[in-house]
Amino acid sequence: MLKCCAHRGYSSRAPENTMAAIEMALHTSGITGVEIDIQLTKDLVPVVIHDFFIDRTTNGQGFVRDKDYQQLSKFDAGSWFKAEYKGEKIPALEEVLQLFKETESKDDLIIEIKSDGHDSPEIEKRVIELIKQFNLTSQVYIKSFNHEIIKSINEIDPGFNTGLLISGRSTLILEQLEYTRASFISISHYYLDQNIIDLMESNGIGIMSWTVNKSSNINRITDLSDNIVIITNYPEKVLASKI
Ligand code: G3P
Ligand code: CA
Repeated sequence: MLKCCAHRGYSSRAPENTMAAIEMALHTSGITGVEIDIQLTKDLVPVVIHDFFIDRTTNGQGFVRDKDYQQLSKFDAGSWFKAEYKGEKIPALEEVLQLFKETESKDDLIIEIKSDGHDSPEIEKRVIELIKQFNLTSQVYIKSFNHEIIKSINEIDPGFNTGLLISGRSTLILEQLEYTRASFISISHYYLDQNIIDLMESNGIGIMSWTVNKSSNINRITDLSDNIVIITNYPEKVLASKI
């Protein structure tokens, strides 16, 4: 079944990685999942933001990891996108999980753990604890470009859906999957071809592909397989392609 996942929330219609963008995705019929990016604050709170610094998407400046959660939560993460979103904040992961629980959403929550080499080793533990606290383990898919983080998650708790982010050509995907014990890949659509699909499908490995924004690329992927999670800023294009 074709799955349509909103990238950083419904990020073409609301400011990326905010509660507004996530809620918009959850309220849009046909969208089956929401992708968000996670980092730790200085006081080790997992928060939802893509860049390592806050300058592009808030009215503040500096690195996420240098600020406490209380400090970060004062910044406006909506105005840069459109004035009507003034007052949107950098959400804590906990708020997102709470939203899923309160709304009884059945959507997939795809959590990308961002990593720039300065990460606290606490991030895996903090994310796992929170997801378990909300009893959302089966609905969550955790992935990272840092494959050591994925390995570590599976060592702490092998019960999670975990995946490897891939942004190039690799001949070692099966080896990396075995090493990390991941169960899916999330691959840039530029590198998704029939060979990879056949290799993953014959090994029981799930496939996500990002960030598929043009209809021509969406159609190329749906022609290759209808078993791929398409991650996009424009879910409406994916949903239109299903008709
Ligand atoms: O879901 C994968 C995709 O989000 C990776 O790229 O930079 O948008 O996090 P980025
Ligand atoms: Ca991401």
